[in-house]
Amino acid sequence: MLQLLSDLYQQEPSYGICLSQREHVDTISLLSEDCFDIGWSEIQLLNLLNESGGFVWHAAGKKKPDHILSYVIIRAVSDEAEILSIGTAKQHQGKGIARKLLQTAIATLKAQHINHLFLEVSTENISANHLYNKLGFEKVGIRKSYYKHAHDNSYQDASVLKLDLKTYANQ
Ligand SMILES: CC(C)(COP(=O)(O)OP(=O)(O)OC[C@H]1O[C@@H](n2cnc3c(N)ncnc32)[C@H](O)[C@@H]1OP(=O)(O)O)[C@@H](O)C(=O)NCCC(=O)NCCS
Repeated sequence: MLQLLSDLYQQEPSYGICLSQREHVDTISLLSEDCFDIGWSEIQLLNLLNESGGFVWHAAGKKKPDHILSYVIIRAVSDEAEILSIGTAKQHQGKGIARKLLQTAIATLKAQHINHLFLEVSTENISANHLYNKLGFEKVGIRKSYYKHAHDNSYQDASVLKLDLKTYANQ
């Protein structure tokens, strides 16, 4: 019985996933700056949200909705969409939050008749590649020396990944 209660507790996430609004852009901008050498500014996020195909989803604490743990930025044009940025706060990585966030975004895009979802990821980004592989993304191209590291000026290749939403089943 105690084990059952403990399992149930662990299955219930302490965060919720929502479509981000203008009031969230300051916190999301700070989080993106924490995740990348160059993050998304508040202005860039506001501009994206003003576009008809611009979406941002975030995961936030159920008890503290201002506490944003993870975000994903997506732009959709016609029947295609692209993940422009995704990040999870360092202390919350590896808990399945980005996966849940992407599953929610993918389900919504699919319902809006988006057929393909693309992204670029460094070939050396182990956690991100693992996440995308598990969700069913497939490699469709490579961009040589696409990323430049700010700290040592080294270059990394990017893989172009694609998810076919028509055949996607929640995984
Ligand atoms: C990539 C990133 C968004 C993943 O976020 P996250 O919330 O930690 O991801 P999840 O916990 O949902 O992990 C999904 C899968 O990746 C795995 N994973 C996460 N971190 C990992 C790591 N360091 N090494 C190996 N696998 C890892 C998880 O174990 C999980 O797989 P599983 O279901 O088999 O256990 C996060 O690491 C991050 O913000 N990185 C910095 C920014 C970045 O690189 N963004 C991606 C750019 S394309």
